[in-house]
Amino acid sequence: MASADTYLRQPWHPVHGIPMVCAFAHNWERVDAFQSRPEDIVVATFPKSGTTWVCEIVDMILKGGDAEQCKQDTIANRVPMLEFAAPGQMPAGTEQLAAMLSPRIIKTHIPAHLLPKSFWENHCKVVYVARNAKDVAVSYYHFDLMNKLHPHPGTWAEYLEEFMAGRVAYGSWYDHVKGYWERRKEHPILYLFYEDMKEDPRREIGKVAQFLQRELPPAVLDAITRNTSFEAMRDNPTTNYTMVPSTVMDHSLSPFMRKGIAGDWKNHFTVAQSERFDEDYACKMAGTDLCFRSEL
Ligand code: PPS
Repeated sequence: MASADTYLRQPWHPVHGIPMVCAFAHNWERVDAFQSRPEDIVVATFPKSGTTWVCEIVDMILKGGDAEQCKQDTIANRVPMLEFAAPGQMPAGTEQLAAMLSPRIIKTHIPAHLLPKSFWENHCKVVYVARNAKDVAVSYYHFDLMNKLHPHPGTWAEYLEEFMAGRVAYGSWYDHVKGYWERRKEHPILYLFYEDMKEDPRREIGKVAQFLQRELPPAVLDAITRNTSFEAMRDNPTTNYTMVPSTVMDHSLSPFMRKGIAGDWKNHFTVAQSERFDEDYACKMAGTDLCFRSEL
């Protein structure tokens, strides 16, 4: 049996040309050949964009706003991550999903061009959430500090260069957000923004419910809004990842539920870093009508 140490703090491992978490890269055929079901609901994101938030919202919508029912298991079991693997330690995401009843909610960070074909063929609904690049970079840096399935990020200045060059797990943020933005033209993708969710969570939860064709009475919408606030999810052991062994996620280095705000990048970027980032951003995002707000 492989020991967890085999995967801890290992360099990224390329999968179809993108850097991948070493533990997940093993036997990637299981992901490529994954068989979706037409009623599957996919929550797709670039990491650190609000994945856990939207997974909890979708699960709560399907459970009619019943928070106690949601609290019966961790978010990682209720919404398995398609590409997750830790051979010899835990069942792979694909195995968890194969054993689940429909409708399944499936979390993934896989970019659109590498998402298993079966999801496109079955026209599965995709809820995509995107977050402004500067806050994603800051959140991802802190996640790499605490998540030992990832290599150590080095200093913030070093990490920022890696992020801009797409040398982080799942590759380029710029390609990721543009990939799903383009696909939404021919596929049922609800494209959400983290900043919109911060601005008016109730409104955005309503959009998700409508997309999933679930009518929610106002009181249920209120309850879901309340139970998926940053504070509620931070204090909920089934959503805050504190149940993951500290050998893998060390919350004393940085908690998974860190700040949950828009605009924290201002506390980390120097003026020079921000200017350089903006210049590079303008080149990489030229020609798209996709717009982000990096503060509220
Ligand atoms: S992961 O590891 O990719 O699945 O992480 P992900 O869940 O996408 O992103 C984690 C960041 O989202 C913040 N978060 C929230 N913000 C607002 N409201 C709620 N309910 C919420 N839940 C999680 C979390 O704090 C991480 O952001 P940062 O900026 O690091 O605080």
